[in-house]
Amino acid sequence: MAVIIDGKKVRNEIIAQMKTEVSELNSKGVYPCLCVIIVGNDPASRVYVNNKKKACEEIGIISREYALPEETETEELLSLIDELNADDAVSGILCQMPVPGQINSRAVLERIDPSKDVDCFHPFNVGKLVRGDNVMRPCTPAGVETLLDCYGVEIEGKSCVIIGRSEIVGKPMSLLMTNRNATVTLCHSKTENLKDVTSRADILVASVGKPRFVTGDMVKEGAVVIDVGINRDENGKLCGDCIFDECEKKASMITPVPGGVGPMTISMLMRNTITAEKVRRNVAD
Ligand code: GUN
Repeated sequence: MAVIIDGKKVRNEIIAQMKTEVSELNSKGVYPCLCVIIVGNDPASRVYVNNKKKACEEIGIISREYALPEETETEELLSLIDELNADDAVSGILCQMPVPGQINSRAVLERIDPSKDVDCFHPFNVGKLVRGDNVMRPCTPAGVETLLDCYGVEIEGKSCVIIGRSEIVGKPMSLLMTNRNATVTLCHSKTENLKDVTSRADILVASVGKPRFVTGDMVKEGAVVIDVGINRDENGKLCGDCIFDECEKKASMITPVPGGVGPMTISMLMRNTITAEKVRRNVAD
């Protein structure tokens, strides 16, 4: 029987630590502040943004929301970002993705001051991640790395196979694991003999975005299985990328969906916001 990795429990512990840390920072006159920009009316984005605001409240991080109409043009969004870049009270800026089609999302991500880029999406921060001298880590991959550490999973020297090469999860995950001295294989839709590759993984990260994609026969006996997927099945029920019951029989540890990686992402965003403010104010760890 696999150990079920409890993302909610780890999240709650991290949030409690950050709450204490923020109140100590406040007593030194340091106030972390996160600005979240949302453009348009995407219902999923609205839920994510509300959850980010709630987490800020829980920890004591100041949050500001900028809700812009669906028809916003790139230039308007860029001038808001310029304003927030110049605002000394702002620690972190995040533009919720996806943005409506008329907006040049790359231009938006590149306009955010890298020191306030709490998503770690700016090419400067991606470059730092490649070099391994990054200050902040991209939120979802950092959530996975934290879960592995909290459950005492050895990373160095292990075979880590990641399925899915998205810019938000797969690619940065491969960099974080490379920087931890894992032997990393990044699989994608063109990978040949996928099952042969995944069957060699000590740590298998599923970030494909397809329900029931990872079957039990793709998992090595004793592997640690991390399911990053958040999908809806044919009945509208939330599910991951892995067939949990099958994978659980093979794995030594596995994350459930919901309650695994999901709760970690926002807590990593909060961590980055605190770090950004500490770096700006020269506060030592
Ligand atoms: N949309 C889905 N995930 C994310 C994320 O991590 N950051 C931003 N900015 N938008 C998202």
